[in-house]
Amino acid sequence: MTEAVAVADDVVPLFKGAMRRLASAVGVVTAEGPDGVTGMAATSITSLTMDPPAVLVCVNRSASLHACLSQGCAFNINILSRHQRDISSAFGGAVARELRFTVGAWTPDHRGLAMLDDAQANLSCVVDAIWPYGTHSIVVGRVEAVRLTGEVAPLIYQDGTYL
Ligand SMILES: Cc1cc2nc3c(=O)[nH]c(=O)nc-3n(C[C@H](O)[C@H](O)[C@H](O)COP(=O)(O)O)c2cc1C
Repeated sequence: MTEAVAVADDVVPLFKGAMRRLASAVGVVTAEGPDGVTGMAATSITSLTMDPPAVLVCVNRSASLHACLSQGCAFNINILSRHQRDISSAFGGAVARELRFTVGAWTPDHRGLAMLDDAQANLSCVVDAIWPYGTHSIVVGRVEAVRLTGEVAPLIYQDGTYL
């Protein structure tokens, strides 16, 4: 049964409601920015192509990570495990930027970039393309290396909380 319909100017509240019904896996994107190491939680990570291996992630231009990505830096995508809610929360803004990497165990990857121990998967990426759209940039990352850990057990974000 349809409960609410909106068009044009009224669409934003219902759009938010629709997006709350879109369950998504959570990752933490990390990079070395002009002000040192930086990272943020992201649900906008999507597999893009296998040839070349590539992902996309949508990053708000206000995020500290954005300055680095817009300069074409290397970055890591750490796909969180079910038990890593605290890390998602910290990197989603609950913990100050300079303290975030005290949450969880982090090891430098082969490029020296922060890589999360016990993440389900770690993807070492470089920026291949970036397009502005509205408040965000759509970032294409070419995947140079992958590490898998343990079983498939993703952390899922839905309706403002975790499944
Ligand atoms: C579960 C979750 C998913 C998020 N997904 C995104 C995302 O895909 N893109 C984005 O720009 N911000 C996303 N955010 C918000 C950023 O993680 C948050 O604004 C972060 O604090 C930005 O980093 P900064 O504080 O270093 O600027 C998400 C937050 C949470 C909690």
